[in-house]
Amino acid sequence: MSLSSSWIEKIQSLPVLPQVAMRVAERMQSPTATTEEIAKLIRSDAGLTAKLLRLANSSYYSIPGGVSDVNKALQFLGFNTVAQLVLTSSIFGSFRSQGTREFPLSSFWTHSFAVGLLSEITARSLQLQNASDCFIGGLMHDIGKLIMMELSSDQLSKISIHAREHQEGFIETEQSLQLPTHVELGTALARFWNLPNSVFEAIESHHQTVHKSTEAAIVAWSNQWVHSKSIGHSGNYKPAEEINGDVSIGTLKLSEKHKSQIESTFLKEFEKAEAILNGN
Ligand SMILES: [Fe+2]
Ligand SMILES: [Fe+2]
Repeated sequence: MSLSSSWIEKIQSLPVLPQVAMRVAERMQSPTATTEEIAKLIRSDAGLTAKLLRLANSSYYSIPGGVSDVNKALQFLGFNTVAQLVLTSSIFGSFRSQGTREFPLSSFWTHSFAVGLLSEITARSLQLQNASDCFIGGLMHDIGKLIMMELSSDQLSKISIHAREHQEGFIETEQSLQLPTHVELGTALARFWNLPNSVFEAIESHHQTVHKSTEAAIVAWSNQWVHSKSIGHSGNYKPAEEINGDVSIGTLKLSEKHKSQIESTFLKEFEKAEAILNGN
């Protein structure tokens, strides 16, 4: 099924991705990006500066005397963490909706961030050049659900309730109810926002078992793994034990040992990021 022109029009009425976030995403992908450059970009946006300082001053870091300067915050948090947090909060901040009872935004946010982080760690561990692309692809793989939340929360509720009652996945419910899927909505937004091809492909094929690139396979695997561990929530009601976390593992050729190294790095980094995001 292809998207109707009324959906496409509605998607095109959504806000564009904030400039600063777009530039940060661009620079994240460059091996020549410097901390000074990112600091300058963040300083050009007062809201982001305030947010970053709040994150840097969270008790997780317990920096003596606190941090009042963007450069110093970057030194403590690290370039990559800052870039990830800026991008995550900008993308999610572009939408006004707070979610529904069946589909709370905060749990969806946790799911998306976890998939982004695991995708990046996996890409790094496989020594791929563009690990940051994998973070963005993972972060945005389910963005179609956010579009639905913003443009038609009734449809989102209908799908979530049906999925819960039938104990099935979100995508299966969308298909059985013959509604536009979050994959179709997400890829339409990726086109509208002019996101890199790698992000488009991650959104397009995250429910498939055949992928155009290793990066897309990584995002699909990370999504299944995060679902199988019930980290966050994104409207999926298929019981965790029925989710085969290894569906895409064949393409990635990860040994069990390699996989468990990736998982333990993820759990450590996720704990740290969660503490920062929750301001603890
Ligand atoms: Fe999905
Ligand atoms: Fe997902």
